[in-house]
Amino acid sequence: MIATARAENEAFVRDLGAAEFLDHTSRRFDDELSGLDVVLDAVGGETLARSYGVLRPGGRLVTLVAPPDEAAAERSGVQATFFIVRPDHDELTTIARMVDDGRLRPVVAATYPLSEGRAAFESIGAPRPPGKTVLLVRP
Ligand SMILES: NC(=O)c1ccc[n+]([C@@H]2O[C@H](COP(=O)([O-])OP(=O)(O)OC[C@H]3O[C@@H](n4cnc5c(N)ncnc54)[C@H](OP(=O)(O)O)[C@@H]3O)[C@@H](O)[C@H]2O)c1
Repeated sequence: MIATARAENEAFVRDLGAAEFLDHTSRRFDDELSGLDVVLDAVGGETLARSYGVLRPGGRLVTLVAPPDEAAAERSGVQATFFIVRPDHDELTTIARMVDDGRLRPVVAATYPLSEGRAAFESIGAPRPPGKTVLLVRP
């Protein structure tokens, strides 16, 4: 598993299980990588556009950001999918149980009271530590 992030987040992504690391601020992943089985894209735009070419023929691109370019996928001989989370009560219950059991470790970057929801939303574009931004419904 190869992760792309800023240099300051290398230890964090290696702790999550990345075997190799690439600093996207100083290196272009598409200059160095090829023949990959799967790309998970959490960035979109031109980063997504450069992702088709690093897959092996028959590889799979999953993007969280926008519907993929089917023509680009076909040219590269890969499958591309837009993955979008749909909240589901049973799955959320399972996930909550995994957190309670210690099998899943959520990473929380920041918490805000619900009344500061606007500030929480606006913080998303700014540099921040890795992890989720959480709104506290009950203080
Ligand atoms: N489809 C869905 O259901 C769904 C669900 C959740 C989120 N999303 C969307 O997914 C996107 C990402 O959310 P997230 O919370 O996963 O963000 P995130 O935690 O910031 O993850 C993005 C990752 O990509 C790295 N990165 C940033 N710029 C890059 C570049 N140019 N090249 C290569 N790697 C780069 C980041 O590294 P550094 O931070 O170290 O720079 C970080 O590791 C957002 O647009 C969000 O709205 C979609």
